[in-house]
Amino acid sequence: MKNTKISIPAQDLKNKQKKYILAFETSCDDTSVSIIDTDYQVYANIISSQPDHEAFGGILPELASRLHLRNINRCLKAALKKAALTLNDISAIAVAINPGLIGSLIVGVSFAKALAWSLNLPLIAVNHMLGHVMANKIEYPELNPPWLALVVSGGHTELVIFESLSDFYIIGQTLDDASGEAFDKVAKILNLGFPGGPVIDRIAKNGNPNFHKFPRALNKKNNFNFSFSGLKTSVFNWLENKNPEFIDQHLADIVASVQQAIVDILVIKTINAAHKYNINKVIVAGGVSANSCLRNEMNLNCEKNNIDVFFPKMQYCMDNAAMIGAAAVQKYLNNEFADLSLNAFSTKGIRYV
Ligand code: KG4
Ligand code: ZN
Repeated sequence: MKNTKISIPAQDLKNKQKKYILAFETSCDDTSVSIIDTDYQVYANIISSQPDHEAFGGILPELASRLHLRNINRCLKAALKKAALTLNDISAIAVAINPGLIGSLIVGVSFAKALAWSLNLPLIAVNHMLGHVMANKIEYPELNPPWLALVVSGGHTELVIFESLSDFYIIGQTLDDASGEAFDKVAKILNLGFPGGPVIDRIAKNGNPNFHKFPRALNKKNNFNFSFSGLKTSVFNWLENKNPEFIDQHLADIVASVQQAIVDILVIKTINAAHKYNINKVIVAGGVSANSCLRNEMNLNCEKNNIDVFFPKMQYCMDNAAMIGAAAVQKYLNNEFADLSLNAFSTKGIRYV
């Protein structure tokens, strides 16, 4: 019998070996579903946001969970279509289980559990903040710890030392408001809408960051904790005796000065911590990592101090499921799977999963 050699194109061979992770993120007001492989290549990252909250000046938790429920299946279908894959191609299901709004998290966790059970696939539990950090792996798959992560989002401000992709500890965190919260609250005082960070970032581009010196709290060299609630109060008090014309005329200068105060403290503490712990790699993560002033100042100061600094791609700074998939990759490779008793919980911080 003739031995016919069938040659399989290299690309097809590779695709057969690919392990696709289907990831879900529903911790706040964005429903997101992504498909990523274990080389951190993203095939789909569908994000359905909820403009319905705008009228309330913040997120309405009950409304958020109901909208997740309405959107999640639609997002799953869109992700599979974008990636040109079916559920049969998936190797594992990942889901953000904390921190976040409990009602919102429960929708994602329940949906992911049901899918994992029905498809008989492994389930991977992911901490949302760890997801923000691992968003950097999408842009830099070869990047590995040790690194110092500055995690800056709407609810968190943390300095975290990573010894490996799965061993890390917090060396400092906010004692009150998070940095994103500071942007949001100042924007609220000035009637700029929600979320405040992107608006302030945009307006501040035309302003003078030295117009007014707002306080930089806890600025002692070896203190790696943060405090932003005093800044918000100081902005409020300073504005109280200013007339509306003055505020209108100097809006860009005011928000540029607030932004500079937030950025200064984030940058100084990160550089000090990198020196103290002898780390020459800094990873910035979370929604505030999209801030243009933070990116400029961190780049400049890290360069001066011979520290390499990395930011996620802009589309992976804010909440998204690709970052949850990215954090799940290492767990998948380590066989760190959850069972169906998995539940969501709202507790803050990066350390819990
Ligand atoms: O990480 P994220 O999307 O959600 C949480 O996990 O909280 O972060 C949202 C936060 C909001 O406070 C928002 O105002 C802030 O990130 N943010 C920014 C920028 N884009 C988003 N803050 C400053 N400058 C930005 N460009
Ligand atoms: Zn987030």
